[in-house]
Amino acid sequence: MKVAVLGAGPAGLYFAISMKRRNPAHEITVFERNKPDDTFGWGVVLSAETLDNLAANDAVSAAWIRDYFAYWDDIAVIHKGVRTVSTGHGFCGIGRKRLLLLLQRRAQDLGIELRFETEIDDPRPFMENHDLVIGADGLNSRSRAAFAEVFKPDIDVRKCKFVWLGTRQKFDDAFTFIFEETEHGWVWAHAYQFESETATFIVECSEETWANWGFGGMTQEQSIATCERIFARHLGGHSLMSNARHLRGSAWINFPRVLCERWSHKNLALLGDASASAHFSIGSGTKLALESAVALADYLHSEQGLAAAFEKYESARRTEVLRLQSAARNSLEWFEEVERYLDLDPVQFNYSLLTRSQRISHENLRLRDPEWLGGAEAWFQRRAGNTDNVRRAPMFAPFQLRDLKLANRVVVSPMAQYKAVDGCPTDWHFAHYAERAKGGAGLVYIEMTCVSPEGRITPGCTGFYAPEHEVAWKRLVDFVHAETEARICAQIGHSGAKGSTQLGWQQIDAPLKNGNWPLVSASDVAWSSENQVPKAMDRADMAKIKDQFVASAEMAARCGFDMLEIHAAHGYLLSSFITPLTNHRTDEYGGSLENRLRYPLEIFHAMRAVWPAHKPISVRISANDWMGDEGVTPAEAVEIARLLQAAGVDICDVSAGQTSSRARPVYGRMFQTPFSDRIRNETGMATMAVGNIYEPDHVNSILLAGRADLVCLARPHLADPYWTLHAAVQLGDRDVKWPDPYLNGRDQLYRLADRGGATQGLKV
Ligand SMILES: Cc1cc2nc3c(=O)[nH]c(=O)nc-3n(C[C@H](O)[C@H](O)[C@H](O)COP(=O)(O)OP(=O)(O)OC[C@H]3O[C@@H](n4cnc5c(N)ncnc54)[C@H](O)[C@@H]3O)c2cc1C
Ligand SMILES: Cc1cc2nc3c(=O)[nH]c(=O)nc-3n(C[C@H](O)[C@H](O)[C@H](O)COP(=O)(O)O)c2cc1C
Repeated sequence: MKVAVLGAGPAGLYFAISMKRRNPAHEITVFERNKPDDTFGWGVVLSAETLDNLAANDAVSAAWIRDYFAYWDDIAVIHKGVRTVSTGHGFCGIGRKRLLLLLQRRAQDLGIELRFETEIDDPRPFMENHDLVIGADGLNSRSRAAFAEVFKPDIDVRKCKFVWLGTRQKFDDAFTFIFEETEHGWVWAHAYQFESETATFIVECSEETWANWGFGGMTQEQSIATCERIFARHLGGHSLMSNARHLRGSAWINFPRVLCERWSHKNLALLGDASASAHFSIGSGTKLALESAVALADYLHSEQGLAAAFEKYESARRTEVLRLQSAARNSLEWFEEVERYLDLDPVQFNYSLLTRSQRISHENLRLRDPEWLGGAEAWFQRRAGNTDNVRRAPMFAPFQLRDLKLANRVVVSPMAQYKAVDGCPTDWHFAHYAERAKGGAGLVYIEMTCVSPEGRITPGCTGFYAPEHEVAWKRLVDFVHAETEARICAQIGHSGAKGSTQLGWQQIDAPLKNGNWPLVSASDVAWSSENQVPKAMDRADMAKIKDQFVASAEMAARCGFDMLEIHAAHGYLLSSFITPLTNHRTDEYGGSLENRLRYPLEIFHAMRAVWPAHKPISVRISANDWMGDEGVTPAEAVEIARLLQAAGVDICDVSAGQTSSRARPVYGRMFQTPFSDRIRNETGMATMAVGNIYEPDHVNSILLAGRADLVCLARPHLADPYWTLHAAVQLGDRDVKWPDPYLNGRDQLYRLADRGGATQGLKV
């Protein structure tokens, strides 16, 4: 095969080597615009695992690379003058120039022609003269641009500015992150040694700080001198160096995240950064490029014809690329928003940094550095007011809101049971909630309990509007208080436009087959074309429903509930006021955010006035309508939380979505937690996170990183009422309280756990 490779970066060179190794008869030429040793950048990070993959492909180049590898285990974070070090992270790195020189040598040994100083403007002439053309021309690929309509690149130019520098200062003991506060804002560095004499020193800051410093108007020399001043106390008198002299301007760039719908066209395939990029902060760009090169070479030999090979290549590599891009996105977003976290205590800041990509969890950190993690856990417990046994996981830290003291941070999220009769909770509710209260969670919610018969979602929803409701709820609350350590929260709501619908396990959100009741909402916007058009509430409706909320709060207080939550999420009545998707009002309850929150806040103030002063009130919100700027965005949710906080709401329960049948949510593990994180760290308000959180590891990571104060789990508690007790067994925590009659069962589990088999069948 006659092959042209456009670009002699890691992708292009390694592809050429991999092809030639599979069939020495291939005639391969690599074209590169730069000179052989004229590369930008300093060291790149790889892992031992990647090197093993490379060794299986070409033992010779892998051995050469291994000879030059620098290894380090520690990560140091310098923040607020404190240097915190954790270990066990296991990285290795090599100079980019060294890597390329080794690959060039290997390519030449194998008989591959390398043509340097050859600028390629267009892949098309090559496609005519070659059987196969590889576009390995990096982030700003011309090969990609030539067929943009086929590849459909999606290039997301990210917010921060960075410059890739080097230094002779030693960072050989740890991969080091340095955060410096300057007169123009925060500037930070990612520093790591890759050769005995040289370390990479990537300087990064927000676009605003960059502009304040005037970096855009500086020459490379001026820009480097400024960075040297900023980081002077970490450089030990050494200078910073650029090897991007061939680049124009100050060499600062914004990272472009590249995604392409397709990676091949006719006899051209994109490879490496040209096809997909991963932010440098997770150090995986070179790994992706090298591993994709191996895969493509493999398929070109195992499949019949280019089309079949390309198809295999795309389908096999896309998942891995998307997985790494997702971790890279989490990581780069963390750096983009780092100013949100810089006020955290150094311990929490460090933890947040280490877990930023969500690839490293709490238990991963324990494996890497149990001592550091133990110290961080102890810090968390002490800060939570626990001085007895500080060696406990964060989920077992106490929490206090007003006079409410919770034994731990696990919350049974509100979940409608659809088993009420005329709004009255039945034996089902008693048994269901009593079981969850025995299961160890610090706080148990009852489902959205409605302020009136018309305010119910379904005929099976519970209410706080008839005397028999009070009797039934009080019986439950008394039991929970008498027999368990759990506290119990009443969620109060009105269904609005989403009312008069079928039970959860029937056709959810669809109108009843018969017996529908009239609906009200902020505006006359139906949930869907199938649902009734609600009446836009007038002032009389608003006054009446406010009184119903107050009466419900009074009933909840008489029942002895420990906490109240106002349900202002998921498209129900109060949510319909908050989101512009369903609030089209032109009076003082519509338009601006302040206006849209006016009615929910009037209700809050009225309920607060009758709810015991020593007990807290929470508000659940949908922090993202998943409708872009048409609806509530995570940024607007921060403003919502600020208004709630200013009004005196004690904690924000941060849910999302269910406000429009047109919304397209992006699901995933802990997918709503970023909204809680943002609210908590931008406003200082206490928050609860919820949504696809199902492992103790998730809960602990969220808490210790400061992404929420409490963590709600809904579906896991349907599957396992004793989720918290089982989590404790899994984590080896023996300090949770089990109900006395169950102690024999507990002891058996502990014994099994000691023998290493306890969590079988108990996967929580
Ligand atoms: C600051 C920074 C730090 C990084 N750190 C790491 C790290 O620690 N670990 C890691 O794995 N990855 C890291 N990366 C990513 C890594 O550099 C890339 O993902 C990797 O180099 C991709 O290889 P590539 O061959 O696809 O592209 P490149 O390395 O960009 O190679 C493309 C080649 O094509 C040439 N070329 C481009 N256009 C033309 C043209 N028109 N004509 C001729 N030649 C052309 C270029 O000169 C270049 O040699 C980092 C990237 C940056 C920006
Ligand atoms: C059966 C069921 C009923 C629910 N009922 C309510 C409810 O009454 N009030 C509420 O705010 N959320 C309700 N939710 C949403 C949950 O509280 C939670 O936000 C959601 O299920 C995501 O958490 P999870 O991934 O842990 O299940 C319900 C969820 C389920 C599965």
